[in-house]
Amino acid sequence: MPDIPGSEVYVNGRWLARPDASVSVFDRGFLFGDGIYEVVTAYARQPFLIDAHLSRLEYSLDQIKLANPFSRRQWRELIEEAAARQDFADQKIYLQISRGSALRAHRFPDRADPSVVLFVDPFIVPDAAQLAAGMKTITLDDFRWQRGDIKATSLLAAVLASQLAAEAAADEAIWIRNGEVCEGASSNLLAVIDGRLCSPAPSSNLLRGVTLDYMIEIAEADGLQVDRRVIKAAELQTAQEVMLTSAAREIAAVTSIDGRQVGEGRPGAMHGRLHRLYRGKTDELTAAVS
Ligand code: PDD
Repeated sequence: MPDIPGSEVYVNGRWLARPDASVSVFDRGFLFGDGIYEVVTAYARQPFLIDAHLSRLEYSLDQIKLANPFSRRQWRELIEEAAARQDFADQKIYLQISRGSALRAHRFPDRADPSVVLFVDPFIVPDAAQLAAGMKTITLDDFRWQRGDIKATSLLAAVLASQLAAEAAADEAIWIRNGEVCEGASSNLLAVIDGRLCSPAPSSNLLRGVTLDYMIEIAEADGLQVDRRVIKAAELQTAQEVMLTSAAREIAAVTSIDGRQVGEGRPGAMHGRLHRLYRGKTDELTAAVS
């Protein structure tokens, strides 16, 4: 278990050194992937878009019929405390809630206390070189279940997709369902097609990305229009730009799909504009504390 000195793990009310942080092997998160999670980034120890993440967390818990162990205020305090505790300033805050430990049976146990685990890893904010390099991608037929809108810890399909991408010397896989573009293995997709900015329409097959929603909000405030619509896989072949968003990747330009170059094969003007808008907001957050 790699240790990050000083970065303790929150496990059900206690902060523990990483090597000591554990839950029972009977935890349903371990046995069934019966849990949900969030990843929140913090810039200069300031959690970003925390309310949107907590709204999605509440949604995921509702969808899997798991009572929220904390109020929104308690979550906020815990996340802020976690951010403040760290030696490093830019952070990825991971938190998960599982249905807790019980005798192994698929149906919900009559009684189990949810397990809450939270840890914080350093976040390397993508720099100019990383942004310029962009991302190589592959496409895959979506072999996940039909509830991609739940941020569930059962991530085997995403694990396999990411591994397949790595084996193809790519950085991310893009899921295609019935010939339509869905999202990345751990990201959402935006594209410029026929000069228009678009993104797949929200559905139960894809995650409501906090970063994507925010990107659309700030893009619209900057005068852009974003079409949420069905995007056929074939349309990606003629797209001027394709981009992927997630909390940790912010917004990354896709330079190739299945070995075929996208646009000019480097980040385009729309990517530059959206990234500047996003960075403007994260800079505002950090300026407030410096
Ligand atoms: N993944 N779609 C999927 C399937 C994801 O797993 C993620 C994020 C996103 C982007 O969501 P957001 O903008 O809220 O980060 C979209 C996280 C970061 C992960 O699994 O580590």
